[in-house]
Amino acid sequence: MHASLKSIGAYVPSNKLSNKDLEKMVDTSDEWIYQRTGIKDRYIANEDESTSDLAYEASKVAIQRSGLKIDEIDAIICATITPDFFCMPSTACVVADKLGISHITAFDISAACSGFVYALSIAKAFIESGLKKNVLIIGAEKMSSIVDYKDRTTCILFGDGAGAAVIGGSLKKEESIVDIHTSSDGSYQNFLITPGGGSKNPCSQKMLDDGLHYLKMKGNETFKIAVNTLTKDVKNILEKNELSSDDIDFFIPHQANFRIIDAVSKKLNFPNEKVVLTVEKYGNTSAASIPMAINDWYEKGRLKSGDLMLLDTFGGGLTWGSALVYFNQK
Ligand code: UT7
Repeated sequence: MHASLKSIGAYVPSNKLSNKDLEKMVDTSDEWIYQRTGIKDRYIANEDESTSDLAYEASKVAIQRSGLKIDEIDAIICATITPDFFCMPSTACVVADKLGISHITAFDISAACSGFVYALSIAKAFIESGLKKNVLIIGAEKMSSIVDYKDRTTCILFGDGAGAAVIGGSLKKEESIVDIHTSSDGSYQNFLITPGGGSKNPCSQKMLDDGLHYLKMKGNETFKIAVNTLTKDVKNILEKNELSSDDIDFFIPHQANFRIIDAVSKKLNFPNEKVVLTVEKYGNTSAASIPMAINDWYEKGRLKSGDLMLLDTFGGGLTWGSALVYFNQK
């Protein structure tokens, strides 16, 4: 039995935050943001919406499109760095409850922007080992809950959103998740970090006054490593599977910065029409960015069952990964 991506869904919150809006909040300009990142807009959840609410909306769509009944889902994995609760319960458990499912495996994983590809690899292992039949995987983030809207170097980048997919089984290789590679390098842990709130710097008034609960990023250094690492990683997975860019229908990279995507696509000879871009309208939604991009392409009518997607991702940890996946939503 091969693991297979049977459906996709996404949810975008309703409040648009444009570059022009950010000009009124920090010392920046629409021109700077667009030139350096390719971002125009991002969407922000309501104050009373949490990550599980976004995840729930995306999951409902993915389950409905899978044609499965809700009780046929036997595991939920939620990739997020902005869980509803700091330690417990997991966002996956909260989503399961919202969906009306209980007595199934449900847990969160933390791999920052690479979370969806990591979750995909766990779901693949669950299905191919026979341990589970249908796994709901989610990438969901309320990044606005950890972004410092006084820090112009980060607040212009991130948005909220969620994407979900149902991973089931198929006997056909041309419907399968062909291969996944995930990796990390903890020696770069300070490049993307929320320093406060964990066991190293527990919650305290001083920690909050120092703003250590906000996301911090060494943007320029991260950028360079992202381009080199992603290029190498994608080359490796293509070579290992004896494929070239010509065999790929759509290259769907993590949507952090148009310049990173453009540099990697050019090095790997992906023509523009094969490269899926959503960074302009959603910004960087961390673990949600790849499933939101897949969903966008599907809803535009561009992505069809049988198309071979190449996913690649990079984020805090540092973590990264790539995956070769046939889209198998009927
Ligand atoms: O998703 C996880 C992985 N994340 C990434 O891969 C993100 C990688 N990094 C990036 O996307 C880019 O590094 C950024 C978009 C974050 C920054 O672009 P950059 O071209 O690397 O700019 P920089 O950090 O080198 O800053 C250039 C200048 C600086 O001014 P000085 O020192 O040259 O005077 C910054 O202070 O731009 C300034 N700057 C800004 N100016 C206007 C930084 N942020 C802003 C801003 N508006 N929002």
